Amino acid sequence: MVKCKYLYIIILLIVIGTNSCGTGVAVDDLPDRATFANDIAPILQKNCLPCHREQGAAPFSLASYAAVKKRAKTIAKVTQKRIMPPWPADPTYSHFVGEKVLSDREIAIIQKWVKQGAVEGDQKYVYRPNAIERSNIRKPDLVIPFDSVMMHEGDLDRFFISLSNVSLPKKRFISALEFVPTEPGLVHHANGHLLLYKEGSKRMPRRPRRKMEARSEMNSDLGSLLEMQADDGSLPTRIHSAFNYLPGVQGIEYPNGIGAFEVTKDFAAVMNDVHYGPADKTVVDRSVLNVFFTDIAPSRVLSELMLGTNGVSKIVPPLVVPANKVTKHTTRFTIPEDISVLTINPHLHMLGKSFLAFAVKPNGDTIPLIRILRWNFNWQYFYTYKTMLRIPAGSEIVAVAEFDNTSNNPWNPNRPPKAVSERWDSGGASMRASDEMFQFIITYTLYKKGDEFVSLEKK
Ligand code: HEC
Repeated sequence: MVKCKYLYIIILLIVIGTNSCGTGVAVDDLPDRATFANDIAPILQKNCLPCHREQGAAPFSLASYAAVKKRAKTIAKVTQKRIMPPWPADPTYSHFVGEKVLSDREIAIIQKWVKQGAVEGDQKYVYRPNAIERSNIRKPDLVIPFDSVMMHEGDLDRFFISLSNVSLPKKRFISALEFVPTEPGLVHHANGHLLLYKEGSKRMPRRPRRKMEARSEMNSDLGSLLEMQADDGSLPTRIHSAFNYLPGVQGIEYPNGIGAFEVTKDFAAVMNDVHYGPADKTVVDRSVLNVFFTDIAPSRVLSELMLGTNGVSKIVPPLVVPANKVTKHTTRFTIPEDISVLTINPHLHMLGKSFLAFAVKPNGDTIPLIRILRWNFNWQYFYTYKTMLRIPAGSEIVAVAEFDNTSNNPWNPNRPPKAVSERWDSGGASMRASDEMFQFIITYTLYKKGDEFVSLEKK
């Protein structure tokens, strides 16, 4: 059932997110006179700066009073409507690390502040440094550059593979990897592997970086990169899917050596199928991989369970969405052993309408996992539970997705709608955004007593 995997992470992305929820602003005890320094900046730091900072996923920074003041009215509007911050998961169903949902009170304070003229206040507010760096975790210990990619105005989808060699003074433990595109609006997904060269195998670490444009998304050239021999003829150890990137994904570093792993002095990072496009202006992307080291020895190995498309469980009825129809599909899997879930990732494409996942324990109790009432293709977070979530052996994990293939769906790529389904290439399901997918990915470790008390929040 498992595909062993160290899961990490990454960052964010594009276009606008929408959210549900009414805004019953029955709020008293608001400050008489709201100021930026006292009332507004702390809300923005937590909920907005992960994207609205230099080179973040959002198109502009909100990391200064001047920048915020300039957009005060729009900020009042998009927060009131809960368009920003984008957080598709229903906070009345389950909770996650880094949850970005403004309280009614916070929204009311923003409204009041803007109405009162958006004043700065007497003191200056100083943002925490990680709100202005190119990372959602902390300052990276190492930044691995990939070759830059120039997309020209009018380019359609293009796929690249790129390899970067790294030579460290000694072997290290890695606690997190975070893929960061500089043009997040253009990068649709990426999947990366590590190649570990054994000590003394004298890998040519000084061999330059290499980039290839892939002929299609399922690329055979990847094989030759993954088979990169060391000078002594030995093959490196591979860590598959060591890092992934999808729109909206943000970096996370698990505490206490959970999911950490060792890398050899000489290793390579291989970016597989970085999917760019389409471009409406000419830009250069300089994606990097942020690396975070730890001195804490790896403690728990993470595994991945994937339900649905390409996964362990079949989709019922099969994922075919006729034109002008709304359809509902379910996928189920019974887990044979006790597991502790860390992170989940629901994944659908443009026709997605809603997503629900829960586990039914052998005694019939339900464990809520996630509910997304209004699917939004642009925000596909990896959601991490605040504490490890135990699911006992024999529980059935159930995921239910709805797809809307009518013209009421603003994301529908076909006008008029036409039938859409999973489509299969030689290597598996197509990842083209115009085909559909229904996946539920669970990152877990085998349960140990006390796991339900292990916090996954940053200390
Ligand atoms: C996960 C990333 C992310 C977070 C968190 C986030 N934003 Fe955004 N925001 C974006 C992106 C991307 C856009 C550009 C979308 C677009 O306009 O197409 C955007 C657009 C905006 C806009 C322009 C909307 C318009 O119609 O012009 C405003 C204003 C805004 N965000 C404010 C905020 C505020 C305030 C917060 C926090 C309360 C916030 N955002 C949190 C990513 C984010």
